[in-house]
Amino acid sequence: MLTGAGICKYIGTAFSRKSEAHMPRSRTSVSLPPCYAMVHPGLEEIAAEEITHDLGGEVRRTARGLVVFRVPEIDDRLLRLRTVEDVFLFAWGTDQLSYRAEDLDRIERWTAREPSWDHLLRLHHALRPKPKGKPTYRLVAQMEGKHGYLRRDARKALARGLAGKIPASWKFAEEDAAIEIWLTIDQATAVCGVRLSDKTMRHRTYKLEHRPASLRPTIAAAMVRLAGARPPQVVLDPMCGAGTILAEQLAVGWDRERGQVRVWGGDLELAAVRAAAINLRKLGQPQLACWDARRLPLASATVDGIISNPPFGKQLSNAAVIGPLYRHMVREYDRVLRPGGLAVFLVSEPAVLREAAQAIPWQPVRRVSLRVLGQPAAISVWRKPS
Ligand SMILES: C[S@@+](CC[C@H](N)C(=O)[O-])C[C@H]1O[C@@H](n2cnc3c(N)ncnc32)[C@H](O)[C@@H]1O
Repeated sequence: MLTGAGICKYIGTAFSRKSEAHMPRSRTSVSLPPCYAMVHPGLEEIAAEEITHDLGGEVRRTARGLVVFRVPEIDDRLLRLRTVEDVFLFAWGTDQLSYRAEDLDRIERWTAREPSWDHLLRLHHALRPKPKGKPTYRLVAQMEGKHGYLRRDARKALARGLAGKIPASWKFAEEDAAIEIWLTIDQATAVCGVRLSDKTMRHRTYKLEHRPASLRPTIAAAMVRLAGARPPQVVLDPMCGAGTILAEQLAVGWDRERGQVRVWGGDLELAAVRAAAINLRKLGQPQLACWDARRLPLASATVDGIISNPPFGKQLSNAAVIGPLYRHMVREYDRVLRPGGLAVFLVSEPAVLREAAQAIPWQPVRRVSLRVLGQPAAISVWRKPS
């Protein structure tokens, strides 16, 4: 959750012009509005690193599932962020909702008072040109937590606040609108803005084939980021399923001079290897095989990084096999990983993995907690000693 003062104090909104005046001068242009990204809860820190490092952005605030930031330019690089689910132009925000019905008046007032809807809409058009014909718009309200009003009441308050802000010629649409204005409420926090991304940001266009327990692309992207491979290094996903991790690696590990990061992957199930081959077809030239990750047909010390999402205990018919599986898997990964290389895991049984990794022994580098498929899970990064 947000701590300290409200978002408004840090990034300036219609109701906090005074606070904005006291803000330290930003190195980014003041004429550009802040942006915010919705992220899978738990990945806020990694998304903030991507925004800072890849876009030269300044992160102003993070809260559960939310990163608020400024960037020097609002351009299509925002839409190429890999660890975020959606990206928006920021209109207003607060972390001081009262949970009472009076919030509805405040939502309406803040929306109406925000003076720059026109500016936000123009920035949106610059990035996502208007389709032919009359533009359509859509209002979306999301709400988490127990509030003394319904989500649809919040949406109506948003609509009242927007009265007169959207050109009268624009048509309202329930689906597939050219412009989407979102209000997202999570407990006492609310943010409102214009959505820049569309569903391809979170779902990707490469994902043609799905497998049970296939990973969310943004989580796979976070693991790839943590592995930090550079071309022409080799990255291995020994339990690749539909190939999401390999796809994310191929999408980012590219360098004009040194080409792509090389990716190797495989799975115990032939159907998974086939699905991965289809999903990766347009992204690069992965080496794929049907294999048992406990006995890899690879020479020792030949891969620079391993990224692995083994089955969760509840995906196995007998959860007791998780311990032996992890022990065999880690021993084999240690054999094929070069000294100094990193191994990144997503597991739902981090204690079992820790025991297996420490027996090698690998050095723990970083750990990120999150929920996956409704259960607690952890991404952990380990280094094989040099
Ligand atoms: C959680 S899924 C991986 C999902 C994958 N990351 C994706 O995005 O589609 C785990 C995969 O491990 C595979 N698997 C289980 N035991 C294996 C083993 N001993 N060797 C290789 N693959 C194995 C399963 O067939 C399954 O595809």
